[in-house]
Amino acid sequence: MPTERWLSAEHRSPEEQQQALSLRPTRLSEYIGQRDLVERLRIAIEAARGRGEAMEHTLLHGPPGLGKTTLAHVIAQEMGSALHLTSGPALTRGTDLVAALTRIQPNDVLFIDEIHRMPVAVEEFIYPAMEDRRIDVAVDTGLHARTVTIHLKPFTLIGATTRAGLLSAPLRSRFGLTHHLQYYPSADLLTILERSRGLLEITAEGGALGAISERSRGTPRIANRLLRRVRDYAQVRAGGSITQRVVDEALALEGVDGEGLDGLDRAYLKTIAGTYRGGPVGLEALAATMGDDAGTLEDVVEPYLLQRGFLARTRRGRMLTPDACAYLGVEFKPGSVGEGNAASVLFEEEADGVEAE
Ligand code: ADE
Repeated sequence: MPTERWLSAEHRSPEEQQQALSLRPTRLSEYIGQRDLVERLRIAIEAARGRGEAMEHTLLHGPPGLGKTTLAHVIAQEMGSALHLTSGPALTRGTDLVAALTRIQPNDVLFIDEIHRMPVAVEEFIYPAMEDRRIDVAVDTGLHARTVTIHLKPFTLIGATTRAGLLSAPLRSRFGLTHHLQYYPSADLLTILERSRGLLEITAEGGALGAISERSRGTPRIANRLLRRVRDYAQVRAGGSITQRVVDEALALEGVDGEGLDGLDRAYLKTIAGTYRGGPVGLEALAATMGDDAGTLEDVVEPYLLQRGFLARTRRGRMLTPDACAYLGVEFKPGSVGEGNAASVLFEEEADGVEAE
């Protein structure tokens, strides 16, 4: 089972990234949804600008496709400064970070995507950079070994991660602002789709965009991608008009069902239902059965299923909920894997606290 999938919130290609860029809001006033976060940022930006300082270091976490990179662009724009983009895996050595930080002009923004994948050796450099705006670089070896301190211009580090839990406590504590991005309610996705529809200069009949928003898994990146697929389908198969029926047909062709779930989501749920009789099952066992990567399942598939109430994560493993069983059309009695069945195990786990997301 390939992990690359159509509904994934990851960008699929540089072209898609480019198209997404053109739909991206550039100012906070254009940003739809995440109202608490937008308000916190508005205050932080205005305060920093008023003092002529860089905005506080900010950590954004949450599932992919919810707008972390977009917000970094917006923040830089609102600060009137430049944005420098890099990622945890791209910073392989301390010198990569030194290079990125020494390019920075006063009050610029450095965005580090997937900051949880930054090597420990690089993390050591980032602490004094964040706290005291300096980096200590070791030069020479042996008898001549010494440390040279490089002083940096004031800057804002924006870290983005899908896995806040993997960040070390010292790193996490150095961010002045930390925010978890939530999935977008359908109403916000609809507003985003209406904005995109206008920017793409396409027309859609009443209800059509609503049907797309319902199937976008709370994720603007998916909503915009579905809109472009529906636009293509309408153009080629339906004389250009986007109606609810066209949305249904276009998305059915792509394997997206009425819940917005795709083949990988369904395979995931069916594996628990079939092989593991509803669970509980450990993530690694599940990934091995599906021939997929545990990290991908955890980052990309599970968050929405948890949010949708199709999946419960308990200390003994993943389990289907009654809603998931109803969705799959299987009976919720499941699984005597080990002791008990899914219903009774779920009940027990609730009694002693289902593991928090
Ligand atoms: N495009 C993608 N995400 C958006 C958002 N949150 N607001 C406006 N347009 C968007």
